[in-house]
Amino acid sequence: MIDQPTIDRILDASNIVDVVSEFVTLRRRGVNYVGLCPFHSDKTPSFYVSPAKNICKCFACGEGGTSVHFIMKHEQLGYFDALRFLAKKYNIDIQERELTEREKQVRNDRESMLIVNTWAGEYFSKILHENEEGRNIGLRYFKERGFREDIIRKFQLGYSLDKWDALFREATASGYKQEFLEKTGLVIAYENGNVNDRFRGRVMFPVHTLSGKVVAFGGRILKKDEKTAKYVNSPESEIYHKGNELYGIFFAKQQIVKSDRCYLVEGYTDVISMHQAGIENVVASSGTALTQGQIRLIHRFTNNITILYDGDAAGIKAALRGIDLLLEEGMNVKVVLLPDNEDPDSFARKHNATQFGDYIKANETDFIRFKTKLLLEEAGGDPIKRSALISDIVRSVAIIPDNIARTVYIRECSGMLEIDERVLLNEVNRIKLTDSPPPPPEAYPPNTYLQDEGGEALPPAGENASPAAQAASLPVSPYEKYEIALLRYVVRYGERELFNYSDEETGADVRCSVAGYIREELAQDGLSFLTPLYKGMLEEAANHLNEEGFIAGRFFMHHPNPEISKLAVNLISDKYQLSKYHSKFRDIEREEDKLQSYITKDLFALKDAYVNRQIKTIRDKLKEAESSGGYDEVVALMTRLTELNRIKNLLGKQLGERIIIKM
Ligand code: CTP
Ligand code: MN
Repeated sequence: MIDQPTIDRILDASNIVDVVSEFVTLRRRGVNYVGLCPFHSDKTPSFYVSPAKNICKCFACGEGGTSVHFIMKHEQLGYFDALRFLAKKYNIDIQERELTEREKQVRNDRESMLIVNTWAGEYFSKILHENEEGRNIGLRYFKERGFREDIIRKFQLGYSLDKWDALFREATASGYKQEFLEKTGLVIAYENGNVNDRFRGRVMFPVHTLSGKVVAFGGRILKKDEKTAKYVNSPESEIYHKGNELYGIFFAKQQIVKSDRCYLVEGYTDVISMHQAGIENVVASSGTALTQGQIRLIHRFTNNITILYDGDAAGIKAALRGIDLLLEEGMNVKVVLLPDNEDPDSFARKHNATQFGDYIKANETDFIRFKTKLLLEEAGGDPIKRSALISDIVRSVAIIPDNIARTVYIRECSGMLEIDERVLLNEVNRIKLTDSPPPPPEAYPPNTYLQDEGGEALPPAGENASPAAQAASLPVSPYEKYEIALLRYVVRYGERELFNYSDEETGADVRCSVAGYIREELAQDGLSFLTPLYKGMLEEAANHLNEEGFIAGRFFMHHPNPEISKLAVNLISDKYQLSKYHSKFRDIEREEDKLQSYITKDLFALKDAYVNRQIKTIRDKLKEAESSGGYDEVVALMTRLTELNRIKNLLGKQLGERIIIKM
């Protein structure tokens, strides 16, 4: 863990223009910079960078945020890794939080193992390029396969000498402990005290994690040898869980996001050859069926996966396994069959990226269709096989989580299988009833501030609301609209002094900040925000107000809870600011100048909305009580209702609006 002062130093040092320009060409426009958005295929510059606010935002796709958000998204890193990335850029030493003894132990082990693997990766690659045996055998092998020098370097390919313990000797001579050489599986120690290298006389493929750490190796023999396995791989270890890694993901992630698609192949060499041909959004399952961990890894970056099969029957059969898992995760699965006797590796060597792309386009088939066709051919006229095939396909369709997609598939399959659509639908529903989990609860009402959209002009709210509240007129509950408007002031101006006065009794100078005022105003009426997320944020802001140097915007934008930081960025970068900065410049000045009047208006409007909500509840209860004849209850409710209407009336007067109460 990185400690807070270090995090603050990193955030202070990070200059958004600086950070973004590393990846995007920016041009100055007024007080901002603009460029082509790196997160969608942008034709005209939609990506705004505001040095004043130190944030960026795409007004077409909605992506953006602070330097940390930008790096998280662009480099596909987690929050802390993004901080580390920035720390490196700005030469800031990272002070990690003190760990417990146990944490230290595990961490030290893991770290030592990673260090050993990093060393081994460099060792194997050095042998390949500089050692005579390495060059004559290993490098020559790769060259004969047509691997280019830059690709060999990029994937850090290597060679292990054909000796019993060459690596072990070199490693111990360089000070690496046997313990970690064993734990990573680089060496194997026997009871009799002998220690051998695991990889001998093989070309080496390091396996990189999502963030580029080497956690394992695959070593391929060079000669055709029926007796020895083609590949020897690192064993499972504390740093290597085969089912959680995908070969090539580190080199593929950016392109997967960009093209919103991931190609899945079988082997190391398939990935490498496709890269060489210019197709970089490709990963390999390394010869086994996909696991859920691997699918989730892909799903973080895209919904769309295309599986490339070897043309032979065995390849197809093997790859059919595990696909139901993909469907279950809600991925769109497509399949491409390569011509006979070709695998992605051989095919990529014969074609360039455009040709490969064209072939994929012409041949990709939706998975369910593919499976149906394949099984149909196999079953031929055999009625028993046919019925088995139907239930097989029905099962695949039933696990697709999306209703619409499922319906479309049912229709298609009904055509292909020549079975009535309703019969298929019944079958699918029967399966869903027996083994699917309950559907997720209703989604929270949509709120554009929580979404990534740029935000179109929205219909105005009541006249008695600030421009912000009017803009927030969304399909949300009436009170939430005002809660979000007020929260927006808290995030933007929370720490600012709204007004000050001297206390009548003590004569002391009292300063009232935006956040403090809003919370106080609500508390006086025994109220707090009803939306839990907003309520929590208001409390947090108010609780930090007394801290030296507290700036609400900064605090929330860098909040560790991503829901909060995302919301904060959206509240700070809304259309009143970034997009129309030049034309709306005066509006911004006005908002800041008129804070007190805006906030007061919105507070009244919020209270009014709360009261309306209560009135509605009481009315409903009243109806019930009247029909069940509970006299005392009716009286109590009527009293409460009168009281609420009186409050409403008062609020209305303050709002400058006449309220006619209809009972
Ligand atoms: N594999 C393995 N152990 C084996 C055979 C295969 O771990 N004995 C894994 C490797 O990850 C390999 C993948 O399965 O990359 C696919 O196997 P294959 O197609 O046979 O290997 P390729 O990597 O394609 O190698 P080549 O093209 O040199 O045959
Ligand atoms: Mn292969």
